[in-house]
Amino acid sequence: MTLSRPQHVLLTGAAGFIGFHVANNLLDQGIRVTGVDNLNAYYPVQLKTDRLALLAKRDGFSFHQVDIADHDAFKAAPGINDADAVVHLAAQAGVRYSLENPFAYGQSNLIGHLSVIELVRHHPNKPRLVYASSSSVYGANSKAPFSEGDRVDNPVSLYAATKRSNEMMSESYARLYGMEQVGLRFFTVYGPWGRPDMAYWTFTRDIIEGRPIRVFNNGHLKRDFTWIDDIVAGVVSTALDQPKTANLPLHRIYNIGNNRPVELGRFIEIVEEAVGKKAEKIMEPMQPGDVHATYANIDALARDHGFAPTTKLEDGIPRFVKWYRDYTKT
Ligand SMILES: NC(=O)c1ccc[n+]([C@@H]2O[C@H](COP(=O)([O-])OP(=O)(O)OC[C@H]3O[C@@H](n4cnc5c(N)ncnc54)[C@H](O)[C@@H]3O)[C@@H](O)[C@H]2O)c1
Repeated sequence: MTLSRPQHVLLTGAAGFIGFHVANNLLDQGIRVTGVDNLNAYYPVQLKTDRLALLAKRDGFSFHQVDIADHDAFKAAPGINDADAVVHLAAQAGVRYSLENPFAYGQSNLIGHLSVIELVRHHPNKPRLVYASSSSVYGANSKAPFSEGDRVDNPVSLYAATKRSNEMMSESYARLYGMEQVGLRFFTVYGPWGRPDMAYWTFTRDIIEGRPIRVFNNGHLKRDFTWIDDIVAGVVSTALDQPKTANLPLHRIYNIGNNRPVELGRFIEIVEEAVGKKAEKIMEPMQPGDVHATYANIDALARDHGFAPTTKLEDGIPRFVKWYRDYTKT
């Protein structure tokens, strides 16, 4: 177990939305970051290279384009053996895409996670590993809020199944090899430099461009939207700080979200207000693989790492919309 505060973090998915912000936060604290990412084309690569261009200007950041599922290439990336913490965010994300492209999930999420835990297993510094799981592991569970102790063996998408598998793989490595690992179940994260496949982005774009938006289940879907800076504070603390609670298991799983679920209908109103224009709505039924409500119990992460998200959707969405208009010049 690493006791001194890490000074060099290996970050997978560094060109991604959350990875970019985690890297900036670490660099702000004077911590070196070795980032890896395969820059895949799941969404426009330009957005990933624009994020990287900003990171490249900063002292202490180095980047290697590599597929983590290619274990030999991954472990040969320069600087990796010198890291003293690992934050693993690289994954094929998205629930709906997993219906059409299942093998992308097998490759990046199953083989990719195995590659990362193997790297950590043989790593000279025995770094703590923090990795991304997802609220989607709660599947069709109806008890809200979702708690870490709830049963999670009914995934409703392949994406969710791969994320739950990651948790199981990590649990086995903690038992077999004494590896300290933290799995974070993210609940819908939003903010500047975000993901073009997510509703906050597509709704903003379509309302600005005067195109209709598709509203699933009449807007009666509840989501726990979490502002990126709140998420980053939690990720960085679990990676760098010793937990405040004694005698925790080597492998810990935490919800990381907001505990203020918002109805899709209200969410659309907030985007409309921020854009300054009404949306044209097309009402559609529930989509396969979607769940009615995601809502996090965050008591465990609050207790062990002081996690306390503060940003309300009414404050975050206008900040996202401002960034979106600047970035897209719309
Ligand atoms: N953003 C959310 O709301 C959310 C919610 C739940 C879980 N997560 C999880 O958090 C993590 C980060 O998500 P994000 O929103 O930043 O997504 P993202 O897609 O922006 O970032 C993921 C990055 O990983 C890279 N990547 C994918 N497969 C790779 C591979 N095989 N090798 C190397 N790089 C690879 C991608 O190119 C991308 O840049 C992911 O594991 C995701 O599943 C995110």
